[in-house]
Amino acid sequence: MHNKRILLGITGGIAAYKIAFLIRLLKKEGAEVKCIMTPASCDFISPLVVSTLSDNPVGIEFWNKADGTWNNHVEYGLWADVFVIAPATANSISKMASGACDNLLLATYLSNKSKTIIAPAMDLDMYVHPTTKRNLIQLEEDGVQIIPAESGFLASGLEGQGRMAEPETIFNYLKIALSSSEELCCKNILVTAGPTYEAIDPVRFIGNHSTGKMGYEIALALANKGAIVHLISGPTNLTIEHPLIELTKVTNAQEMFEVVQNKWEAMDGGIFSAAVADYRPKTVATEKIKKSSDDLTIELVKNPDILKWAGENKKSNQLLAGFALETTNSLEYGAAKLQQKNLDFIVINEPLAGKTGFGSETNQILLLDNCNNLTKFELKSKSQVADDIVDYYIKLSK
Ligand code: C5P
Repeated sequence: MHNKRILLGITGGIAAYKIAFLIRLLKKEGAEVKCIMTPASCDFISPLVVSTLSDNPVGIEFWNKADGTWNNHVEYGLWADVFVIAPATANSISKMASGACDNLLLATYLSNKSKTIIAPAMDLDMYVHPTTKRNLIQLEEDGVQIIPAESGFLASGLEGQGRMAEPETIFNYLKIALSSSEELCCKNILVTAGPTYEAIDPVRFIGNHSTGKMGYEIALALANKGAIVHLISGPTNLTIEHPLIELTKVTNAQEMFEVVQNKWEAMDGGIFSAAVADYRPKTVATEKIKKSSDDLTIELVKNPDILKWAGENKKSNQLLAGFALETTNSLEYGAAKLQQKNLDFIVINEPLAGKTGFGSETNQILLLDNCNNLTKFELKSKSQVADDIVDYYIKLSK
């Protein structure tokens, strides 16, 4: 959303009050927002609220009576990366379908060059009326995307379909619409993240200190470039919300391996950042192990190397990246892993006490690719590191 230009049209329905929340969401994500209101909508939400939250003057009339300047509908249309009309009333929908342009919002719709998305809002009988249905079909044919109205309590006191989609839903539609112009649009990319927990008995496990932060940031950076991200995560406290990210939670390496095996063939690529346990207990005790003798030996067996398997089963159109976290000779070991696992590039963590690695907010990395190009990066936040990794992925995928 950062620096994306959202043109928001508001028409005269009670749901207009919710638009304040949509503007807040957009601004929080770094979008630029300009709003146009129909004169009728000003009875439902104050233009002062809209202009204050959007941090821009609001267009209502063709002319600004105060200073005699013209609100140029063509300029609005050229400015926008996407035009969203929410709420879209039956009246405005019908005018849009017929090409009427008796207010600034409608004139802007006719001259708009970017994608138009509408979120209808009306009473249930109006929503299912043949005229409205016909107009919505017409708009869809004209290339307008419609966010279906939701069911629930309506301002009329009736219950049924007609409620404007919630601001979060509209926000997600906008994110997807904007990412469709992005470089990774429609690419399926698998990301592994977090630790794995290998059970010893019903209450104990072998794990590591990975928080999953790096992998989650990579998933977000990929999704923000339009990729459909399949995030396979070991146990973490993190949450992730993005319409293009499908999260599968697993506990141990074997489960992670099964999900990766099922998905890998359909992927365009993968970035494997999970800190997978190399070994697991040979047997898992069915009861909690009792404290009896002074020593306890747990026999371990090797876990599948998930990344190595993906490298061995990589098709020529798939791009694969892995991570190397070593405490010594990181470049040397990283280079060896790149070869052994048949990777296109490897992210080598530079160990800096307290500043990189598990649980830290920052990372310093080297990127080494299979043509032996080595790129060094500064110490950065994990989200900036994720952007660097994704930019490199895009560069190699071209
Ligand atoms: O061989 P090593 O574990 O050091 O390699 C690290 C890389 O391999 C990471 O990208 C990690 O996600 C991946 N890996 C894996 N399956 C394992 C072990 C590591 O996918 N069992």
